[in-house]
Order: sequence, then C-alpha cells, then structure tokens
Amino acid sequence: MKLLPVISLLALTSATSALDNGLMRTPPMGWMSWERFRCNIDCENDPKNCISENLFRDMADRLAEDGWKEMGYDHVMIDDCWSSMLRDKDGRLQPDPQRFPGGIAKLARYLHDRGLKLGIYGDLGTHTCGGYPGTTLDKIDTDAQTFASWGVDFLKLDGCYSNEEEQQKGYPLMSKALNATGRPIGYSCSWPAYRGGLPPSVNYTLLGEICNLWRNYDDIQDSWDSVQDITDWFFDNQEILQPEAAPGRWNDPDMLIIGNFGLSVDQSRSQMALWAIMAAPLIMSNNLRTLSSEARAILQNGAAIAINQDPMGVQGRRLLQERSQIEVYWRPLSQSASALVFLSRRQDMPYRYHTSLAKLNYTAGSYEAYDVFTGKTLSGLSAATEFTVSINPSGVVMWYVYPKMHYKHQQDDAVIPPFHH
Ligand code: GLA
Repeated sequence: MKLLPVISLLALTSATSALDNGLMRTPPMGWMSWERFRCNIDCENDPKNCISENLFRDMADRLAEDGWKEMGYDHVMIDDCWSSMLRDKDGRLQPDPQRFPGGIAKLARYLHDRGLKLGIYGDLGTHTCGGYPGTTLDKIDTDAQTFASWGVDFLKLDGCYSNEEEQQKGYPLMSKALNATGRPIGYSCSWPAYRGGLPPSVNYTLLGEICNLWRNYDDIQDSWDSVQDITDWFFDNQEILQPEAAPGRWNDPDMLIIGNFGLSVDQSRSQMALWAIMAAPLIMSNNLRTLSSEARAILQNGAAIAINQDPMGVQGRRLLQERSQIEVYWRPLSQSASALVFLSRRQDMPYRYHTSLAKLNYTAGSYEAYDVFTGKTLSGLSAATEFTVSINPSGVVMWYVYPKMHYKHQQDDAVIPPFHH
C-alpha cells in the first residue's frame, strides 16, 4: 500500500518515460542461447549442445550454483529454434516435443525454484529468422497469453519476415498484449535493428514507451572485429542513442561473447568494460559448463558489474579518439562517481597514455581511482595531476573514479562502496 506513491513519484521524476511494467530499472543480466548455440537442433549426435530443455536446465544450474545469480545474472533466455514447426490445434505455439518433452511451463518452474527467470523468443512476422512459426498480427494476443500461462518472464521479439507497416503495428500491440496478461514480462524489441537503427526510420521516444530494451544494430559474432564494429556504430551514433537509455529502457548492443573462441583475455576485458560504459544488458552467450577461470573472473568482476548496474542509469559516451589509437570512454555514476575506460586499438605493444582528469573534463577537486581489473586504488589525484596508464593492444584500463571528500571520514583501507572485494 505504502509503495504506490513512491513508485508514482519515481515515474514523475525520471527524465524519460519507460514502459510502465516496473521492470529492468537496471540493464537486464543473464544468459541467452543464440550466439554460442545457434540453431543446433541435432540432439541425436550432439545432445549436450543442442537447443533442448537440457541445455537450459544445465545453464540454470550453473547460474544458480557457480555464483552468477548472486552477481545479478538471473535470466535464462531461450532464443530461436525452440518451437515445433506447427502450432497446436488451438493455434498456439508449442515447443518441439522431442527436444522439450517437459514443456516450457515445467522449465519455467525449474528456473523459478532456483530464483531465476525464463526468457523466450518470438518473431513478429510469418517466420522466425530460423524458419520456425512467427507471430503474425492476428496471433499477438494468443502468443502473449501462451507465454504468460507458461510463466515466462521475458520476451525477445525479433523482426524477420515482416514489413515496416506490420512492425509499426505489431511491436506496440505486443507491448499492450503483454501488459494485458497481468504477468510482468520484460520486453525486448528488435524493431530498430530492422529499420537501420536511426531516426527518422526509428522512433526512440515510442520504443522507450513500449519496450524495456531494443536491439539497435547487427548481430554479434564470435570475434574481436564484431565487438569493434558494434562499439564503433554505437559510439559514432552516441548523440542519438545515448539520451534514449534510462531506467526501464535500454539500448542493446547484443550478447557478451566472453568465454567463447574469438576474444583474447584483453579483448574480453574490453567487451566487459565497453558494455558497462554503454549501460548495456549483460546477457552472456557462452558455455557456462566449460568457462575458463579468466573468463569467469571478467564476467563476475564486481566493480564492472556495479558500474553497468548503476542506479542512475545514464549511458556513457566516447570522449576522445586520439591519433595514437587510444580512445577514452566515460560514464557518470551515482554519488558523484564516474567510470573511465581507456581502450587501445593498437596492434603493437602496450601504450603508455599520458593525461589528467582535467583533460577529461573533470572539475577541480581531489579524486581516487579504483582500477577495475587490477583492484588497485590510486589516491591523491587532483584534476590537474598528470598520470600515465599502460594499455595493452586491444585491451583496456578501466577506472571507477570518485571524489575523495565523500570518504574522508573513512579509514584509508576501508572498503570502497559499492564494491565488496
Ligand atoms: C536474428 C537475431 C539474433 C537471433 C537470430 C535467431 O538474427 O538478431 O539475435 O535471435 O535471429 O534466428
């Protein structure tokens, strides 16, 4: 009862309005099948890696037992290729009976019992991108109700095999249909990715009102090239995209590929750092059963996650692209803190980059900097202090920066909020 006025006050004070389902006030976190497991349906020859209820149960076990859930990774998201090629006699989607013999409702219960949430995939159009049954305009209500009846918590609605007009109608209609089920269901819209990702073809004001997140751009692939291409597109267009993100409404540069085959340790840190700056959903697509300890340490880095999940929910920006191929990224955080990322695009050797906080637009004052990947703290920085960071090729240095005065009363060795290390 008492909560209501607080919630409406929050809604009034937020600068941009978001889908009013109260969900995803910080970017969603979890695991999704697509990038790593694609449309592998060969359960006979590849039972551990095919799209089946076993895969999702296994990943749920890993999230629940290997410390992921505690860090915030609480969604298990089914992507394409889960359904039967035919709707049932009442026109409802149904899972492939061989690969999901227990059904989706049972899988949802399995996750809920472990404190996790279940995401599912649909496609506004005649077919999904993988050729499975799509959700045409006349099926929107049915599919929303089916998902809700199964206990689904999140829907990624793709946009293959529909035209502009159908998308214009269908994405808002699905938003309404999900709300009408009475079940809180997070809603990810691929709509902008099918319209070039930029205005005037994309209306971000509308998207923020109907979706919790949206895919703006191309699919991620398992390579550093792909991570760089996505990074460049998002920051080249930051004037348009950055103001659109806020609690409940996020730009989605696609899944984290850390732990797969395409990224070195340095490049993995770079993806984690850049996705944290972007306030991006942290949705891993990897094999949690066989993750290396390095990959796990990066994905479970408490400071990187806290930066990504900052409650203010302001997306960061690229500040500089130097001739030296060093780039500087910045994100404002709550409690007058901020995050800085120094990224090297070089291909030779570690580069010693000299700068100062003043050169990065910080105001006069005394700061401390916590190095997210080494765990070391640099104290006694004034805005004018010149410093040097050594950045590995295709790597990053990432700092959590906060004004010294906030912690004056604390011991020097006190734990720095909001990280526990
Ligand atoms: C599109 C989406 C991907 C994935 C596939 C599934 O390409 O952008 O994220 O969902 O479809 O077929």
